[in-house]
Amino acid sequence: MIPPRLHAALDAASAAGLVLLALRWPGRLSRPLALAGLGVAAYSLATRYREGPGRGIGLAQHRLLDAAQGAACLAAGLREERPGPRAFLTGYGQFSLAAAALSGPPGPQGVALPATAVAGAEAIGPDLARLRCGIVNVAFIGQPGAGDREWFLVDAAIAGSAPFIRAAARHRYGDARPAAILLTHGHFDHVGALEQLARDWDAPVYAHPLEQPFLDGSWSYLPPAPEVGGGLMAELSPLFPRRPIEIRDRLRELPQDGSIPGLEGWRWIHTPGHTPGHVSFWHEATGRLIAGDAISTTQQESLCSAALQIPKLQGPPAYFTTDWEAAGESVRRLAALHPQAMIAGHGPAVEGPEFQAALNELARNFTALGLPHDSRYAAARLTA
Ligand SMILES: [Fe+2]
Repeated sequence: MIPPRLHAALDAASAAGLVLLALRWPGRLSRPLALAGLGVAAYSLATRYREGPGRGIGLAQHRLLDAAQGAACLAAGLREERPGPRAFLTGYGQFSLAAAALSGPPGPQGVALPATAVAGAEAIGPDLARLRCGIVNVAFIGQPGAGDREWFLVDAAIAGSAPFIRAAARHRYGDARPAAILLTHGHFDHVGALEQLARDWDAPVYAHPLEQPFLDGSWSYLPPAPEVGGGLMAELSPLFPRRPIEIRDRLRELPQDGSIPGLEGWRWIHTPGHTPGHVSFWHEATGRLIAGDAISTTQQESLCSAALQIPKLQGPPAYFTTDWEAAGESVRRLAALHPQAMIAGHGPAVEGPEFQAALNELARNFTALGLPHDSRYAAARLTA
């Protein structure tokens, strides 16, 4: 990451360099280079490089201008025939694009997970399995071959995932239908295929009472916080859907006593923070946890990390988390269970002592490792 002060120095050098080169390469390049140099100088002088209120444009808008200028220089360079100007323009274009990409704030630090903590297989024990649907996971609870209404689906991924979830369910359970669909929460990337699957299987949907307004058409989620940084997923988060779905007819409340109707041995645990009614699912006898978005095992703020599922243990996806004090408390609550294996909403399944050590470290030091450096939803006393 490029800190704002270094970015400002690079901007000054860029503006001066472009104007000087305009003098050195007279002819048709002179005018565009001079204009580009003056343009960089103008929008740099108008930029607030330090965070906080004030006149002018913020670093986020500045980076968009850097990216636009970088793309224009790269395109001009690729059309240029003279080797000197071509090398400069393409090089400067790439430099500007890189500066735009690398100047964002870092996301939560998290804890590195060694490869030995990553559970390779999709099956996490005899009656639990993970299915990855792009950037998000769903889980199946129930032994392979379980009968009709004897297994459960946890979450329903992004829109368009229904055929993949149905195919995986058929592979595992034949034509047997689930007893219910359990929801960790109602974000768009966890309920994308919900209406279709619930209708096809004629299955009830269980969620926490505090999550129900987002599932019965009442409330939209709060706006995301792209300022958390960490990568393109965070930057794009204002474009993500946050309107409620409407499944009122199928919606059931999880029982207050922590039980799950029809599912022996598993309990739900309220883990708010990411959303008000977020829950995780826990099987005490085998130490297996379905954490939902209370914990992530990849840096979900980064598109690269989310796509490649690069292992890293951290708190919830930061751009969509609206109560960081509760989020930290939820991580500590789950760590206190001492889970042996875990499926998170995002990232690879994990297990073993290295995972347990990383989870304990995250819980112990959530203020340093779990919080983003900035969020409109972060309590000041947590970031102090
Ligand atoms: Fe979420």
